[in-house]
Amino acid sequence: MVTGAAGFIGSTLTRRLLDEGHRVTGIDAIDDYYDPAIKRRRVARLSDTGGFDFHEAHLLDAPLEELLRDVDYVFHFAGRPGVRASWGAQFNEFLRDNVLSTQRLLEAAKESPVRRIVYSSSSSVYGDAESFPTSEQAVPQPRSPYGVTKLAAEHLCRLYAHAFQVPTVSLRYFTVYGPEQRPDMAFNRFIRAAALGETIQIYGDGTQTRDFTYVDDVVQANVLAADCDEVGAVFNIGGGSRVPLLDMLTIIERLVGRPLRIEHTDTQPGDARDTAADISAAHARLGYAPQIGIEEGLARQVEWELASMAGSGGRA
Ligand code: UGA
Repeated sequence: MVTGAAGFIGSTLTRRLLDEGHRVTGIDAIDDYYDPAIKRRRVARLSDTGGFDFHEAHLLDAPLEELLRDVDYVFHFAGRPGVRASWGAQFNEFLRDNVLSTQRLLEAAKESPVRRIVYSSSSSVYGDAESFPTSEQAVPQPRSPYGVTKLAAEHLCRLYAHAFQVPTVSLRYFTVYGPEQRPDMAFNRFIRAAALGETIQIYGDGTQTRDFTYVDDVVQANVLAADCDEVGAVFNIGGGSRVPLLDMLTIIERLVGRPLRIEHTDTQPGDARDTAADISAAHARLGYAPQIGIEEGLARQVEWELASMAGSGGRA
């Protein structure tokens, strides 16, 4: 089962599993956090392959006990993303989609034959970490309400593993990018703006750094976590390097072949200044090693973005 199967990472993992001949039950609420048409197109493409059974439902409404009767592995991507959007009245939705939904999934899994639940956690649980690269032993101090909900759900996964032997493993992803990236994320916005000659906004001076992680590496981490012997554990999944945002702009300009128009605005509440993953635990205990460096990964994303823009009259 893949929850969030219509999303960026969920649909990429589903594609891989179907290509390998697995049967996949996909669940997705197809909410309007971003254009639902993008999600429906992904589902349609996945449905062209045999073995994909899709349920359009929120995890709080889906018949989970019944669906899980037949499931060996759950990859839990469904949730509400967006570090900077989680303040104010919208927090309700973050609580519902990230915490309450995960708790319902864990309850349903208690009596099921599921052999593993891989939970998609986030580097945002660290907030502004005290040291870099940051290991899983660092005390999490989220800076955004979103990070608080991702951490709360991670704690629930650990609790259900200890109290009820629900076989969870949590993976903390660091700023995932690549083909199908969410339209609200930085690279997607910047590549499109470069191609269209539009102005981008850089929050702050652009010297903030991120450990950008290519989506196929995150998918591979999920596959490794599905069969590891690490119930209740948490692992960082990073791309292996820490890059200033400004450096990425230069690479995007070169790959797209057009200059970026840049406007600097205030730093955004909730944004961590820097992130960098210590991936030694994932390497030693899962066999995780990122394969795609930032230049190659970004070139693949640019190629995909430009092709999808061309396929939709320039504005996918
Ligand atoms: C990303 C995802 O969006 C989160 O869902 C995820 O939980 C998080 O990674 C994670 O690591 O767990 P973020 O690092 O903020 O969050 O990713 P981007 O939206 O790609 O932003 C990267 C950097 O670009 C940030 O410093 C952000 O402030 C900056 N940015 C983003 C801009 O300057 N302008 C923009 O228009 C967008």
